[in-house]
Amino acid sequence: MRIGVVGLGYVGSVAAACLAKVGHDVLGVDRDRQRLQDPPYEPYLNRLLGLYTSKRNLRLLHTSEVSDPLGEVILICTGTPSNVTGLVDLSQVKSAIEWVKTKQTSGTLVMKSTVPPGTGNQIITGLLSDTSFSYVSNPEFLREGTAVHDWFHPDRIVIGTGSKESEYRVRKLYEGIKCPYIITSVTTAEMIKYAANAFLATKISFINEVANLSDVFGVSIDDIQEGIGLDPRIGRSFLNPGVGYGGSCFPKDIRALDNLSDSSGYDFQLLKSVIRVNNRQRYRPLDFLKNQFGNLEGLPICVLGLTFKPGTDDTRESPGVDLASALEGKKADVRKYDPAVQENPGLLASVTGSKALILMTEWPQIVNADWEEIYSRMLPPRLLFDGRNCLNPEEMYNLGFCYRGVGRGGESLYKRSSWIPR
Ligand code: UGA
Repeated sequence: MRIGVVGLGYVGSVAAACLAKVGHDVLGVDRDRQRLQDPPYEPYLNRLLGLYTSKRNLRLLHTSEVSDPLGEVILICTGTPSNVTGLVDLSQVKSAIEWVKTKQTSGTLVMKSTVPPGTGNQIITGLLSDTSFSYVSNPEFLREGTAVHDWFHPDRIVIGTGSKESEYRVRKLYEGIKCPYIITSVTTAEMIKYAANAFLATKISFINEVANLSDVFGVSIDDIQEGIGLDPRIGRSFLNPGVGYGGSCFPKDIRALDNLSDSSGYDFQLLKSVIRVNNRQRYRPLDFLKNQFGNLEGLPICVLGLTFKPGTDDTRESPGVDLASALEGKKADVRKYDPAVQENPGLLASVTGSKALILMTEWPQIVNADWEEIYSRMLPPRLLFDGRNCLNPEEMYNLGFCYRGVGRGGESLYKRSSWIPR
């Protein structure tokens, strides 16, 4: 099939590359030249883009270079950021559709961007009313850092449309991929996307609350995770406590759903708590440091991990970034390290002379670092706050660190270490 992909962020470029890989004739376009030269940081993506552009079934062009219709199927993959009021800013989606209309007036328009329930129907009766386009909501569940793998191994594919022909065309996009298909209305498909992200965020905030309480009771969240996660009704995944969720999706989507509920007169109380818990969780290491040191002014502290999770260079709404600025606000002497963020002197140089380390992202480069060497480069009391519970507490304790995780025994473990507050 001839397929157009509008917007080459991480969803658009992954979609374009993966569709080209299975043999479709793909044209990817973006109005931002930078995006064409500098694709998102995503494992395997660069290789696929290079391979299929050279095989010529994938072209990546600036919008000004496109003169012909884009294809029978057009994927809209533009950003849907929050506006100042926390509502979804649909301007990029709308201008992408307006632009597509200047190239062709029929075809199947597939919305992959996350848009609020009701948007598709508004587009159909508004922007598309003077065209012969059919419209499909086909939400995306890719995760940054594993997006190419996720494309070929989805848990499900949701197709929101009232048209059998459009459904057939979208199924063709995923031919060969085995997974359940959910065929539903446009608005239901839109809601599925928000509900999925909201539920995952709820799981994270829930386990973070239980972890905080575990610190109070001096019990082990690791065992609680197993103890509840083995119940298939609960499930083990997305039950990792830590400093909370960040990134370009969860925070924005959860806020948007909350705002949408409010503006439609429904008070989604659970979601408000999920947001509150998450906003607080990233500052847990700060509370701990304040508790231990009192005044943080001039205290050499190293923040390990600035991206919102490993495997990406995305620092949007990242707990690590927010914590580092809060520490700077307290006039601490803050050093930072992240393997994907360029301007830093490297892990060992960053930790040298620090009295406390705060691990905010579980990068393998950090988890598997030489912790003995790190210990030797630090200054007492060598406090180690593991904000992702990704290190072995016993090993760290044996090395001499004053280790603290999230819900891993709290005071009881910490008290075993012999450090003297300055
Ligand atoms: C998320 C969803 O997982 C995707 O399905 C969805 O397509 C995407 O948002 C989107 O809406 O575009 P992503 O933002 O890439 O994907 O990242 P996740 O792997 O879901 O992690 C999100 C955040 O939750 C990270 O900060 C991560 O550290 C945190 N997290 C995750 C936890 O704190 N605990 C966990 O158990 C899992």
